[in-house]
Amino acid sequence: MKLREIREGEVKLLIPDPSEYSKEGRFDPSWAPVFYNPRMKFNRDVSVAFLKAVKPRSAIDGMSASGVRALRYKIESGVERVIANDKDPKAVDLIRKNVELNKVDVLVYSKDVNALLYEERAEFVDIDPFGTPAPFLLSALWSSVRYLGITATDLTALECSSASSARRKYDLTCFGKVSFSKEFGLRALIGRIVRDAAVLEKGVIPLLSFYKDYYYRVFVEVKRGSGKANEALKNLGFYYECPKCGLRIKSEEACRLFCPICKVPMKGGGPIWLGSLGDQEVITKISENVSDERERKFLEVLRAELIYNDPYYNTDFLASTNRTRPKKVTEMIECLGSAARTHFDPKGFKTNKPPEKVKECLGLGRTGS
Ligand SMILES: C[S@@+](CC[C@H](N)C(=O)[O-])C[C@H]1O[C@@H](n2cnc3c(N)ncnc32)[C@H](O)[C@@H]1O
Repeated sequence: MKLREIREGEVKLLIPDPSEYSKEGRFDPSWAPVFYNPRMKFNRDVSVAFLKAVKPRSAIDGMSASGVRALRYKIESGVERVIANDKDPKAVDLIRKNVELNKVDVLVYSKDVNALLYEERAEFVDIDPFGTPAPFLLSALWSSVRYLGITATDLTALECSSASSARRKYDLTCFGKVSFSKEFGLRALIGRIVRDAAVLEKGVIPLLSFYKDYYYRVFVEVKRGSGKANEALKNLGFYYECPKCGLRIKSEEACRLFCPICKVPMKGGGPIWLGSLGDQEVITKISENVSDERERKFLEVLRAELIYNDPYYNTDFLASTNRTRPKKVTEMIECLGSAARTHFDPKGFKTNKPPEKVKECLGLGRTGS
């Protein structure tokens, strides 16, 4: 494999030389023998900052590829005991080279991640797969003593774009994609983590969760005990939306609902996580540990929107369901008073004001406070 040396954060890294694996001038990281995607640097930067904030003494990078995360956790986050694992021998060769290049003590394994995670425990476990993390959640939750970081790139299933895929991978009941689908997907992923944790008599608390580009990333605290599991399960439910008038209904059941106003079938489903998507204090600490100004701004939007737990509104959808012209996000926030931008959607905002007030701000008559 032809290699190129780069730097990411404070780590020197050998990666497959992209020019060797390009096709017709284009390069996709999945075409190289070992995966390294520079576009995931943000995900890794935030993970490094998360570990700096919560200070675990051990970490397992279960699907390590080039070893970049494990090395950054060791060198930048200062984690004492770090394991880098990948089942692909080509990746393991590269991880060993990178560990040597950085002259650090990182344990390297070449196992199926599920096998590894039922043998080893760590205070932080990282699962960063291609596509769905669902097949690895139980073992990761078993192995994790305190924290878990999960990436998912199968947005089609999580957002309910494919009901059958959502059913297979996440045991989700889907009735169609809602206007706040990005948030629905993130909540569906957390819902799956909560249910798998409950099987192991563990509860989880989301500390930081976000959507970016084409993936979700979730950091949770894992707590042992059936009581903790039951507490987390109480936050699961179903969310429905009328595609015609935008009416939203929360429910405890998976049922085919018809909008009481328009009589059309409602979209959405579940079970999804209805609790908070993060912890403001932890996010503040994470922000203090990122050096990139854009990353800090992104985290600031996340922190600010946490106050509003109800799903975001999309201004185009609001305009079409109310047969009016779209208002700017800034106009809506100003009119609502208690509202914020959301990282999920540049045309979205979150608020704790009632739907009547949202309609009023669209210019549809005064009906509420
Ligand atoms: C998306 S890449 C990981 C990227 C890496 N974490 C990073 O930040 O650059 C997924 C990796 O998981 C490995 N993998 C896939 N299935 C696995 C399994 N069952 N056990 C261990 N490794 C696995 C693949 O070989 C691949 O290197």
